[in-house]
Parts: sequence; C-alpha cells; structure tokens
Amino acid sequence: MKRYEEIIKVIERRAKQGELTAGSKLPSIRALSQEFNCSRNTIIKAYQELESRHLIYTVPKSGYYLVGDYPLLHDDFNKGAKIDFFSAGPDRSGMPYQDFKHCLNQAIELYKEDMFMYSEVQGLHSLRDTLARHLRDLQVFVPPGRIFVVSGSQQALHLLVKLPFPNGKTNICVEQPTHNSFIESLKLEKATAYGIEVTSSGIDFDRLEHLFKQHEIKFFYITSRFHNPTGYSYSNSEKKRIVELAQKYDVYIVEDDYMGDLEFRLKQDPIFAHDPSGRVIYTKSFSKVLLPGLRLGLTVLPEAMKKHFSLAKYASDLHTPVLTQGALEIYLKSGMYDAHIKNMREIYKEKSAILQQACEDYLPSSVTYSRSLSGFYITIFLPASLKANQLINDLSRENVFVGNAENMFLPEFKKDHILRLSVSHVEKEKIPAGVQKIADGIRRLSCEKK
Ligand SMILES: Cc1ncc(COP(=O)(O)O)c(C=O)c1O
Repeated sequence: MKRYEEIIKVIERRAKQGELTAGSKLPSIRALSQEFNCSRNTIIKAYQELESRHLIYTVPKSGYYLVGDYPLLHDDFNKGAKIDFFSAGPDRSGMPYQDFKHCLNQAIELYKEDMFMYSEVQGLHSLRDTLARHLRDLQVFVPPGRIFVVSGSQQALHLLVKLPFPNGKTNICVEQPTHNSFIESLKLEKATAYGIEVTSSGIDFDRLEHLFKQHEIKFFYITSRFHNPTGYSYSNSEKKRIVELAQKYDVYIVEDDYMGDLEFRLKQDPIFAHDPSGRVIYTKSFSKVLLPGLRLGLTVLPEAMKKHFSLAKYASDLHTPVLTQGALEIYLKSGMYDAHIKNMREIYKEKSAILQQACEDYLPSSVTYSRSLSGFYITIFLPASLKANQLINDLSRENVFVGNAENMFLPEFKKDHILRLSVSHVEKEKIPAGVQKIADGIRRLSCEKK
C-alpha cells in the first residue's frame, strides 16, 4: 500500500469511529505531515484523492472538511450473533450502491440544466419513456403519458386515498393485514375502509363481492404478489375474478406491485395485464430491489384521473427530485438494472425457500404460517393464547429480532398473535438457526401458559 493510501485509511478509520463527523475540520497538511512523518505532498495527494471521491471538501484559505458522517455501525450490522428477521429494507449485501453512485455522478452532469429549475410534475419525460419500455417486461403496456414518477410508491398510494375517482365513490376496500404505511394513510385521511382478510389460501370472494356490492367502494387496494406481510401471491384465475367483480360493481383496483421484479414464475402477470383499460391503477416501487432512501416509485393512471393526480402531486412536493430520476434513467438504460434484478431474484428465491423449509422442519404443530414463494415475508400465526409481543421480547434477549403485525390492521381486525418475518437482512446460513430459536421460544411460552 502506498503511503498516501495508508493515510486515507487512517482518516477513514477515524471517521468510522466517530472521531470525525460531518463538517469536521480535518487536521492541517502540516500537522498530518508531522504526525505521519511524510512530505506535505503525500498529505495533499491523500486529501485530493478523498476530495475526488466526494468524501471531503476544501474551503479556500481555511482547510479541508468532511462531507458526511461515515456509516459507523451498518457494515457490522447482522454480523455476529444477531439474527434480524425484523428489518424490512433490502438485502444490504446485494444492493448496487456503488453502481448507483456512478449513475448519480453522471446524472448531476447530464441533468445539470434541469437542476436549475423546477421540473415536470409527472416526472422527466426521458425517464418515463425508459420506464414504459421497462414496464413491458412486466406485461404492463402503457404510453409514457400515463406514467407518473412518484417519491416512493407510498406517495401515490397516499394521494389516491383522498383523490376523487371517476366512479364518484369514497370508501376503500383493503386487504387485512396490509403494509402499515397504507394503514397510516387511511387513518390520517379519515377514510372509511372495509377490510378483507388474506389467509394462506387467499381471500374470500363472497365477502369481496358483498363489500363491492354494499359499500360504495371507490377502490380495492391489493398487493397482488409477495404480499406484505403474508407473502401471498394471487393466481391468474383469482386476478381475473377480481377484475370481473370490479367491473361488475364499478370498483377501481389499486394494484401495488412493489416487488413485481422478483417474480420468477412464467406467465404470472399483474392484475393490470388483465385489464389495461384504466380500471386498474398500477404502482411500482424501487425500494425493495434498489435503495429505499432514493424514494423512487411510479404509478400508471387512467387518462381520466391524470389531472387530479397531477394537482395532488404538485401540492405534495411539486415533483420527484431530478437527480435521482436522472440516475434511475441511466441505471435502467445501461442494463445494470436488469442484471441486478436477475441476481436479486435468485437471492430471494433461495432465501425464501430456506425459510419455508426451516418453518416446516422446526415450528411446532400448534402454529400455522403463510406459504410464500419468494420475496421477503412470511407470517407465523401463534395459538391465540400466546401474545406475539411476549415472544418477541423473549427472543430479543437471545438476539433474534422479529416483528409483530399489529400496525398492519384496521382496528376491527387487530390481532396480537402474529409474527412477521423478513428474510431480507438475514444471511441465508443463519435462517434455520433463527427459526429454531423462534420454535424453542414458542414451546417455552406455551409451557408457561399451561
Ligand atoms: C406492500 C408495500 N407497498 C408499498 C410500500 C412502499 O414502498 P415505497 O418505498 O416505494 O414507498 C411498501 C414498503 O414497505 C410495502 O411494503
């Protein structure tokens, strides 16, 4: 290792240990050259290198400063004894952080002019062209004019809760459980919502029809594959039935395809593909397969709803940041996205299979669990006498972290005996041991209750 590289390593270690934080002034060139007993030029070279990596910046006549905090603990996260079935972000090890960094660096040059002004509410035209091509692979055939780039798919879902729909109705039908940000949107907007339970065999179609018929449903919010938290994926015939019912009772469908990219089975198209006429509003997220912090998602709207949605999006944040949109366009066009997704599909398919097998091998017969083909999640249903929170506390003392699903229910559906497991943060080798510990914990708690 060259001398200036050694100095870079030392500075980085100090930043990682928290000795240097965002905005900290770095030692002067003279001080460092004395400390390392080397020439000033060596220190200058180290600083220049750090600056070219955008890690430090210079203030003329003042000195060098650290741009941002270094990630202190994250790299060590999940190493060691800890088994984290709780965190639901994407698998850190598989994330294309460096690749995306290159795209961001390119985007800041390529989209320089766009950065100096407000941009299109609907999203960069060039990105929407690219997204229209990308969506074809998911059997979503739409012109760019129907696509809105949003600041995370949650933004679209949130705006749709209050938006007027062409059917003039106001109530919402929602799977139970469902992902908790949507529950928060319903609460915040004081929307009237009717739940339909998702079990390991799907939903009860008679109940769905009853709800559609009796309750003036504006839209049915559905995660059509890799449901959060059950992992359930609807079959094609179920999707067709949902579309038929929606047509019969003039209900819109808001299809959340947040992990559609992870589909590995053939001919498993989204509900949108069964009715592209405009009754199905499609949303897609880039959080689970790319980086959640980017806040990038899209929605496909019928022509009749574009005007209202544009106004709502404008009132919400004017538009999604140009820099991340530009970087996503570069990432998609370069082919990096496709290569990355292929890899992710394999990773999650394998992890999910290991998790299923471990549940089968170790969980006691008193519990049931959802069958999940791929994706992140499964739910474990404890016997009603056991409280999930008690088990969660017990397990945390053994360094196994699991979530409950309490905030994923409407009040009248609330359940306190459900565990949600996410495999995204757990190394595949640790999954069986983690499930074994959960199984032991269940047995111990069951004994205590007797
Ligand atoms: C089912 C589901 N839909 C949507 C979202 C929100 O995704 P985004 O980060 O794109 O807003 C999540 C986030 O966890 C989710 O679980």
